Amino acid sequence: MPSMDANGTSAIVTGGASGLGEATVRKLTSMGVRCTVFDRNESLAEKFASEMGGKTNYVAGDVTNPEDCQKAVDQAASEGSLRIAVNCAGVGWAGRVVNRDNSPHDLSPFQLIQNINLIGTFNVMTKAASAIAATEPLEDGERGVIVNTASVAAFDGQIGQLAYSASKGGIVGMMLPAARDLSVLGIRVNTIAPGLFDTPLLGLLPQPQKEELGRSVLFPKRLGNPAEYGELVGFLVSCSYLNAEVIRLDGGIRMPPK
Ligand SMILES: NC(=O)c1ccc[n+]([C@@H]2O[C@H](COP(=O)([O-])OP(=O)(O)OC[C@H]3O[C@@H](n4cnc5c(N)ncnc54)[C@H](O)[C@@H]3O)[C@@H](O)[C@H]2O)c1
Repeated sequence: MPSMDANGTSAIVTGGASGLGEATVRKLTSMGVRCTVFDRNESLAEKFASEMGGKTNYVAGDVTNPEDCQKAVDQAASEGSLRIAVNCAGVGWAGRVVNRDNSPHDLSPFQLIQNINLIGTFNVMTKAASAIAATEPLEDGERGVIVNTASVAAFDGQIGQLAYSASKGGIVGMMLPAARDLSVLGIRVNTIAPGLFDTPLLGLLPQPQKEELGRSVLFPKRLGNPAEYGELVGFLVSCSYLNAEVIRLDGGIRMPPK
């Protein structure tokens, strides 16, 4: 089967110090990939890198800062042939169009969420693609792959998800033009839209509430395990025919209005 052999290549994983990004790093490392974690939580990134025993390195920085992004991409490119970029850095926000007191949604949190989730993905995708473009193509012309993280909220935005859904919808919208732009370079672009995953993002919820959320999933009736996200990234990296696709990874859930 024609597939991209990731063994010995380098990857940048944003948000790689926690949750879905961390699971991605674990999976890619098991495939022989040298990962650079790019995360704003320096202490977590450092702890994780030392746990990985030198198989992973990290750059502390913010995806909203283009210079930090360039630094992280340069680091990843210096670790080996950079062929993989996975964007997992992201944050949530709850706020309605009109608040309970009829005041309008503040612009600043809306902008902040677009800045981190959407512009952060843009920053790293563009800079990583530029570095991947400089690598030698593989036998079939492939140079690499970019995986972005949206959310089922891009399609099933719930009450209070105005800012979050807009940012994730933007990530879905960027995918096809990005895949088309990068096709001449042999770089694929795919997007994962996760449902409900048991990561620190949901960690503040008490266990009974997590279980209740799990029961709302079609099948299996539980939250997603971050390792399942890592598995999908591994498959998206390896399977060269998968391009310009958004995959819901959600146990079949369709989010209700609230
Ligand atoms: N967990 C879920 O159920 C779920 C569902 C759908 C989508 N997602 C998306 O998946 C992605 C990962 O989520 P997670 O659940 O693993 O969250 P998480 O909080 O466990 O991990 C996110 C990581 O991103 C880092 N980060 C946040 N903002 C950053 C910035 N500006 N610059 C650099 N690093 C930054 C954090 O420090 C953290 O380590 C997010 O984009 C999230 O929106 C998660």
